Amino acid sequence: MNISKTLITKEQIAEKVRKLAARINADYNGAELVVIGILNGSFIFTADLIRELELDIKVEFMGVSSYKDGTKSSGELLITKDLQLDITAADVLIVEDIIDSGATAKLLVETLKSRSPHSVKVCSLLNKQARRVNDFRADYVGFEIDDEFVVGYGLDFAGKFRQLKEIKILEEV
Ligand code: IMP
Ligand code: MG
Repeated sequence: MNISKTLITKEQIAEKVRKLAARINADYNGAELVVIGILNGSFIFTADLIRELELDIKVEFMGVSSYKDGTKSSGELLITKDLQLDITAADVLIVEDIIDSGATAKLLVETLKSRSPHSVKVCSLLNKQARRVNDFRADYVGFEIDDEFVVGYGLDFAGKFRQLKEIKILEEV
């Protein structure tokens, strides 16, 4: 494995974070928001995004993955770290690094909706539409990318490369 060309520069990321935050600020105008960063991949994006939000927010983190049953998702969400907060009647914004198959995000939204929040929306920095196995769509998407494995800005390969300031494509050598 080899990290090769930069797909998205740190300047492009910073500009996109500001634009996403501007949309979120406008949409939630004055509302209180519970921002939920999904570990581990979204910790850097969440940290940057919340500092552009001009809203009354609480920030929480959740650890999740979807059980995979062969090639298909079994439709169950594995929660490795749950919220410390009751989200009943809250406006919730899930912050993801990337939506790939969409399995995790779809299950996560269903799980959080079962806790009776007022609303649940999803903001993902990256979206790989070509890999989608369901009808999931994030409410806010930073960049649409092709079916390539990317690392950096929080995203990993086997736990590594999260600290890169840019988003880079991982290629087999
Ligand atoms: P999904 O359930 O297939 O949508 O899985 C999404 C999760 O897979 C993301 O939150 C990432 O943790 C991981 N993932 C998917 N594609 C990539 C990638 O290109 N680089 C790093 N992680 C990825
Ligand atoms: Mg993830």
